[in-house]
Amino acid sequence: MHGEYGGVVPELASRDHIRRLLPLIRQIFAEAGLTLQDLDAIAYTRGPGLAGALLVGASVAAALGFALKVPVLGIHHLEGHLLSPLLSDPAPAFPFVALLVSGGHTQLMEVTGLGQYRLLGETVDDAAGEAFDKTAKLLGLGYPGGPALSRLADEFSRTGQFVRFELPRPMLHSGDFNFSFSGLKTAVLTLVNKHEMTPQTRGAIAQAFQEAAVEVLTEKSLAALAKTGLTQLVVAGGVGANRQLRSNLDRRAEGIGATVYYPKLEFCTDNGAMIAFAGAMRMESGLESGETESLKPGGFTINARWDLEMQETGQDA
Ligand code: KG4
Ligand code: ZN
Repeated sequence: MHGEYGGVVPELASRDHIRRLLPLIRQIFAEAGLTLQDLDAIAYTRGPGLAGALLVGASVAAALGFALKVPVLGIHHLEGHLLSPLLSDPAPAFPFVALLVSGGHTQLMEVTGLGQYRLLGETVDDAAGEAFDKTAKLLGLGYPGGPALSRLADEFSRTGQFVRFELPRPMLHSGDFNFSFSGLKTAVLTLVNKHEMTPQTRGAIAQAFQEAAVEVLTEKSLAALAKTGLTQLVVAGGVGANRQLRSNLDRRAEGIGATVYYPKLEFCTDNGAMIAFAGAMRMESGLESGETESLKPGGFTINARWDLEMQETGQDA
């Protein structure tokens, strides 16, 4: 639906969510062999994100919670990503460093416990996934192009390479944990304008881009482990599905005796299980984000802009 426009159209997204959400919930209950009465609580994504889409989820969650008289928990989208590797076996234990790489975020966080997140650094411009998507678009790979770009790059690496490009490693030596990806995208644009776009050059550009992005993400993550003295790295978010990123991180981490944890592929990109899981962890630990939304009809909240470090206060940007 959004591919036609080369990006998500907010109004189309929220209208589509309205159409799909209740049938989807019914379908999932049927597949799981559960009924609404089996629910102990309802977790929904409270933010950050597109306000219209968030409102659809929040209002359905609040209405169901009110009707069923069960607690309703508003979960931070990134907390869902951050905790998603805990759904794997073996799972990491607190404390760990988390690399969050999605279409909207690129952050390194020190995670000492549930709800205890310290931002070490983040992108100063485009997110990593956004850079993958924009580069893919420049190469004519459609939207969202991250996975296609990555496939093209991997394939090019495996086959003959008669062309090779080098792209900059933005902020690799900046001495902090911040990232910048917009310059990389501009460098790709320059290559695209300068060369005839044959399958060879497209493959070579995809490979050069992936190598540059992966190297910066890998080295900064390793530096974050060194700085915090931690030996567990958790990778979350859609870009965490990237094969080259995984193999580079594994290789570099092994060299320093650290372990890298990934969510299962289906929990890497946006999914409901990670939100439910974060909600369950909060319920179990008594950290219910202080919400009693089920008791207040119409009293639910969304936070379209929501800082993960600030979430315990529910403070909005
Ligand atoms: O976490 P996610 O599903 O949604 C957001 O919250 O943004 O991440 C989606 C992003 C997109 O930018 C997509 O292109 C990127 O993750 N992505 C990848 C790969 N799979 C998904 N980027 C690079 N390589 C991949 N294999
Ligand atoms: Zn996400």
